[in-house]
Amino acid sequence: MTRKIKEIKMSGNTKLLLNHLKDMKLNSEKISVVTAYSYPQAQIAQEAGIDMILVGDSLGMVELGYSDTVPVTMDDMLIHIKAAVRGAPDTHIIGDMPFMSYNISKEQAIENAGILYQQGRADSVKLEGGCDYADTVAAVFKAGIPVCGHIGLTPQTAAILGGHKVQGKNLDAAKKMIDDAVALDEAGAYAIVLEAIPAGLAEIISEKVSVPTIGIGAGAGCDGQVLVYHDMLGMYKKFTPKFVKVYADIYTDSVKALSKYSSEVKDGSFPGPEHSFKIKAETLDELKKFLG
Ligand code: KIV
Repeated sequence: MTRKIKEIKMSGNTKLLLNHLKDMKLNSEKISVVTAYSYPQAQIAQEAGIDMILVGDSLGMVELGYSDTVPVTMDDMLIHIKAAVRGAPDTHIIGDMPFMSYNISKEQAIENAGILYQQGRADSVKLEGGCDYADTVAAVFKAGIPVCGHIGLTPQTAAILGGHKVQGKNLDAAKKMIDDAVALDEAGAYAIVLEAIPAGLAEIISEKVSVPTIGIGAGAGCDGQVLVYHDMLGMYKKFTPKFVKVYADIYTDSVKALSKYSSEVKDGSFPGPEHSFKIKAETLDELKKFLG
């Protein structure tokens, strides 16, 4: 960790700002990002020293039980962003813009980014799309809201990408991905998420753009990495993408703990005396006498 970034973090009440992130890229200091959607998850991420938290619309699947991110609304995002901000007040929080909250017009994008920024108190917003959304990114940025780009596999539009597949594998697609990244950089995006693209391509993009790239399934050549909280902690059992490293098995541990609790309730071993409140013996005797 560079001295400057260490100072920022040690000062306790300072979040990583856009210039700090650029410094981290220049100093080849990797940026750690994790998603979090609730007060306790954000608290844990902050205590772990994670650089940035993304309140991603992946909450649609891992928190709300939808099959994809499309049904997620602005109201959903606002509730979860506010909770994460309360849990991690000293960490930069990125609020994801849900499907159809920025796709209609630049005005719509500014208005909704403004809601996540002003009411949600996210420190920045993220939206999906490359060249086609560069004008939108520029408009939101001009309105004074920091914007993170997101290209490669863009889950909100997975239906037109042929599903959740690795992107940028052939020459034309790889060239287009580079154009997308450069367009976002020029539009004022302060960072770009690269999702599910070949590691070699992510490395080229990371060298080409002036802002940090945050990879998810994009190899080690990115300037930072992001993983979904539930994936990396083994909390979402429906599907785990190949690029996820699972650091814990919270789901299994939780099932074990809850089934032990259930058995102990049934066999009477919980609650024990240490979990109960006492009353004086004479008060209890008097009460019993009174009740006959
Ligand atoms: O919503 C999300 O969690 C994301 C990450 C996968 C980057 O956009």
